[in-house]
Amino acid sequence: MIDKATRLKVALQKSGRLTDNSLDLLVRCGLKYSRGKDQLMCYGENMPLDVLFVRDDDIPDLVQQDVCDLGIVGLNVIEEKRIAFEARGISPLFEQVMTLDYGRCRLSIAVPEGTEYKDARSLRGKRIATTYPNILGRFLREKDIEAEIVTLSGAVEIAPRLGRADFICDLVSTGSTLVANHLWEADTILESQAAIIRTPIPVPNEKQEWIRRLSLRIDGVQQVKESKYIMLHAPRAQLAEIRKLLPGSEAPTIMPLEGSTDKVAVHAVCRENVFWETLESLKSAGASAILVLPVEKMMA
Ligand code: PRP
Ligand code: ZN
Repeated sequence: MIDKATRLKVALQKSGRLTDNSLDLLVRCGLKYSRGKDQLMCYGENMPLDVLFVRDDDIPDLVQQDVCDLGIVGLNVIEEKRIAFEARGISPLFEQVMTLDYGRCRLSIAVPEGTEYKDARSLRGKRIATTYPNILGRFLREKDIEAEIVTLSGAVEIAPRLGRADFICDLVSTGSTLVANHLWEADTILESQAAIIRTPIPVPNEKQEWIRRLSLRIDGVQQVKESKYIMLHAPRAQLAEIRKLLPGSEAPTIMPLEGSTDKVAVHAVCRENVFWETLESLKSAGASAILVLPVEKMMA
């Protein structure tokens, strides 16, 4: 039985583009879990945190209804729900904590091959099939365009072939769904990526403390992904130039080298990926014994 008062409940997408990355993120934050027999829940063994696997479209509602404290979902779903609630005069009870560096995709207008599309005005008087009627509706209002929105619950990409719509408005990430359905991406109306939402309603202290700790750890996980620890030897005379070449590093640590007066050791955390080209430039600038190490954990 889950303890509703003290255990954090996090909603994740059951199966889809965000599932693996989201669970992986929690594991990198230290979560060890066992999976329920029904595969619909993960129980945190070393943290008071349980994961619920649900349809992504339901995640904002679960946070809204206080069934879950946190949810990881695409900005596309968050935005769609927010506009839908607003239109019904309901204030959304979910707020965005931070965006995450995965799940990038876009909500785009796609058009059958052979059909022309110049700009939004090409949508005038057309039927557009989508599962995002609210975002599309706002886009059309902003552009002052009258068009018919055909709201579907899925399989939007086949609507033009079935004669149900002229165009579609759907998520695109690799673009392969569009290609397979002889459609081309004509216009982007929203850029999306994964994000964490939480309830704005105050939660018990223990939960609040875990939300705070988890947020810091997620921040750390995101920062280390690209970060590298770089160590090298540099001639003192070349130090200024070499520092300029270290990508995204703040103050490096500079240490004397035993038995050497003209060379020092430089250690720095680089917050961007270090490529071979960077190493080559460092070497040309006089650096030697260059070592690049992955950073496993980081806390500011
Ligand atoms: C979207 C969209 C397409 C597919 C596009 O569905 O409806 O089917 O992804 O991706 P591609 O450009 O890489 O081919 P999604 O997986 O988000 O499913 P859902 O809308 O049912 O959550
Ligand atoms: Zn969905």
